[in-house]
Amino acid sequence: MKRYLMAPGPVAVDPHVMLVMAEPVIHHRSPQFSEILTRVRDDLKYVYQTKNDVFIMASSGTGGMEASVCNMLSPGDRALCIIGGKFGERWAELCQTYGVETVNIDVEWGRAVDPAQVEAALNENPDIKAVFVQAHETSTGVKHPVKELGEIVGRRENTILVVDAISAMGVYDLKTDDWGLDVVVSGSQKSFSLPPGLSMVSVSEKAWKFAEQSKCPKYYFNLLKERKALGKKTTSYTSAVSLIIGLGEVLRQFKEMGLEALFAHHRRLSGAVKTAAAAMGLELFPRDDSEAITVFKAPEGIDGTEVVKILREEYGITIAGGQAHLKGKIFRISHYGYLSEWDMIIALAAIERAMNQLGYKVEYGSGVAAAQEYFAKN
Ligand SMILES: Cc1ncc(COP(=O)(O)O)c(C=O)c1O
Repeated sequence: MKRYLMAPGPVAVDPHVMLVMAEPVIHHRSPQFSEILTRVRDDLKYVYQTKNDVFIMASSGTGGMEASVCNMLSPGDRALCIIGGKFGERWAELCQTYGVETVNIDVEWGRAVDPAQVEAALNENPDIKAVFVQAHETSTGVKHPVKELGEIVGRRENTILVVDAISAMGVYDLKTDDWGLDVVVSGSQKSFSLPPGLSMVSVSEKAWKFAEQSKCPKYYFNLLKERKALGKKTTSYTSAVSLIIGLGEVLRQFKEMGLEALFAHHRRLSGAVKTAAAAMGLELFPRDDSEAITVFKAPEGIDGTEVVKILREEYGITIAGGQAHLKGKIFRISHYGYLSEWDMIIALAAIERAMNQLGYKVEYGSGVAAAQEYFAKN
């Protein structure tokens, strides 16, 4: 069976990048690797649109989130967490783990936070030291307005904005410096189209002042230590050599393509799939949508988990279902990763078939035709 990976992470990896990573492992303290690491960090700044240092750690994205909490704050500090999905919840859980008290803004899953609500919460709680948010909440397919949040938090000297951009960085425009995003986390297995295993974290000048005051316990995830190592063109501990070499190749491709073309590619895949959904008579789940993924609502009487299962087990296509209370209610397809318009056509054809198999009538070819037309015109 031919397999396709179209979940919102991990994503399919370009075989050429896999081959680059299959080169013999080199030593992480060698001049040869220092040169690669320095170039990769510089190229990451291009995607991040920042002059800040970007650190690369051997961990999944959550490690980068944890580093952002334990390096910026101290036990007893207060933080504002925007919770509109599974990953927003993770911010609050991480804060609680480190003894940071959280004020939560609970946002209806499928909606973006209203910046005015964040401003009001900060006015009410002037001692809040950090605002934690997702640029893109992957569990619901919603983009939070981080640009507006950057303006609000930027006016406050004693508060920083920490953004989980794990499924947003490299997917659409995120201007780290211009928008005042103090700490920005990304991960290798999303738009960077690599296997899982790297988290990347940028730190602004303002955020370094917080890091210098932070009293949370930390050992591996110590950004001040990493800053020192960066000065010596290395990492504190053994670098994930092969993944970083792979990242270098992906970033070379991104630079060659240009950010605007990269973002336009994701918008195009997303536009086609969303147009196709309407043509198939299927609703989308989020009201505030994103080009990173498409989140289909499972029609009344259809178990979304079954759709995912049929695609994976019978057709060889991996997409993702819903988490927590959305389990069985939605299914999700990625537009980032090593994917082309033809992959989207395959996914749509598979959804048409699975729906009919489950007894929900979707006209064969309706979604595929709409996507074909969209791609031809755009
Ligand atoms: C927005 C967001 N945050 C955090 C994570 C967690 O990342 P990881 O699973 O790499 O630890 C994910 C992964 O799906 C994500 O999409």
